[in-house]
Amino acid sequence: MKTPSNAQLRLQSLDDQRLRLGPQTVHLDITNACNTDCVTCWDHSPHLDTPQSITWKRQRADPRRLREVVDDIESLGGLEAVIVSGMGEPFTHPDVYEILGDLKRRGLHVTVITNLLAADADEIIALGVDTLLIGIHGATERAYLDFHPSWSPAHWQRLHTTLERLRDAGRRDKHVQVICRTNAHQLLAMVEQAHRYRAHRLNFKLASLAGGTQAVAIDDRQRLTLLGNDIDVARHRADELGVVHNLDVFEAQVRAGGALTAPIEDIGCFLGYHYSRITVDGTVLYCCNTEVVVGSLATGERFSTLWTGPAWEDLRARLRAGRYFPGCVRCGKLNQNVKLSKRFRERFGEQRWQAATGTSLASSAPTTAAPDVSTGRPPSLHDVQQALARRGLKVLP
Ligand SMILES: C[S@@+](CC[C@H](N)C(=O)[O-])C[C@H]1O[C@@H](n2cnc3c(N)ncnc32)[C@H](O)[C@@H]1O
Ligand code: SF4
Repeated sequence: MKTPSNAQLRLQSLDDQRLRLGPQTVHLDITNACNTDCVTCWDHSPHLDTPQSITWKRQRADPRRLREVVDDIESLGGLEAVIVSGMGEPFTHPDVYEILGDLKRRGLHVTVITNLLAADADEIIALGVDTLLIGIHGATERAYLDFHPSWSPAHWQRLHTTLERLRDAGRRDKHVQVICRTNAHQLLAMVEQAHRYRAHRLNFKLASLAGGTQAVAIDDRQRLTLLGNDIDVARHRADELGVVHNLDVFEAQVRAGGALTAPIEDIGCFLGYHYSRITVDGTVLYCCNTEVVVGSLATGERFSTLWTGPAWEDLRARLRAGRYFPGCVRCGKLNQNVKLSKRFRERFGEQRWQAATGTSLASSAPTTAAPDVSTGRPPSLHDVQQALARRGLKVLP
């Protein structure tokens, strides 16, 4: 008989709730410090009402401790990928290449989320880091500096030198453009830029703003221009150039005026056997939502003990029952959940999918708009309006 793959074993666990493997992907935050001040940033924006303290910003992970943690996670079996990031900029960590080198020597798939400015392209190429998710947020010097107020034209130059070096070495990384007031007019230029640097894909995100950063929300005129012209023009050009993009998802976000929430109740949370995030201070999270804390490594507890222990089991059971946390409406792992939800449904059928998501056959009109499960495309504006209306909420015209 053929041995089941790790992916199959994890799907089985989602069905029968028996733990067989460790996580497939672990997200490691390695530093809270950053070399810039993106206007939209949740931790470093100059617009924050309550800035983070210097003590908080100085926190970073110790590479020796990280190695021990990864050894422990690997002892559970099935670890395949690591995402290296932080609430700050990972390439400002003085030991970042040692950390990345260790992960690569273990044969893991390594993704780094970065603004790229402190990165050494040659080290990245030599280490064979698998993917960079590069936050750029502008396609002209003016827009780039408006998004990064503490930077100067020399930083804009450095960005291009590094992007060129990476491209010329044959790498194809991903561009991230968080869209706000300073750069909403740049979609077409961002597509051209992604093409120039042979980006593997270009992801647009409407900035999710809070704590004072609402100051850089797009205004009504920008929203109308995006919806009336700019998104279509950018989509047309991206398709012409063969740039892979997510402009349909971005359009749905802009249409909903920021009110579009993840229809998590219609998808389900399937991360409990797949993923974990560990913050710089050793807090172990169930997903990227900082509300969903499983425990802490700071007190000497081991990851493997937490993964197999009662707190994780309770959270798996809670989310399986459809009892979500407030932040789940902004699920940062929605794409993964959509994929796993679809795979689970195909393999086990409707009834077991309902058991795994806490939904029931008898449920009445849905209160959220679901993406198309076969394509993962977001719900239409009409579906979103209907779903929000059922919750007594209104979508801006
Ligand atoms: C907080 S950063 C940390 C990693 C790294 N410093 C960077 O900027 O890529 C992680 C991601 O959050 C994105 N981001 C920042 N502010 C955001 C916002 N208000 N809404 C959505 N994404 C945001 C960044 O572009 C980046 O992709
Ligand atoms: S580079 Fe990343 S962590 Fe730094 S300010 Fe920008 S979004 Fe925040």
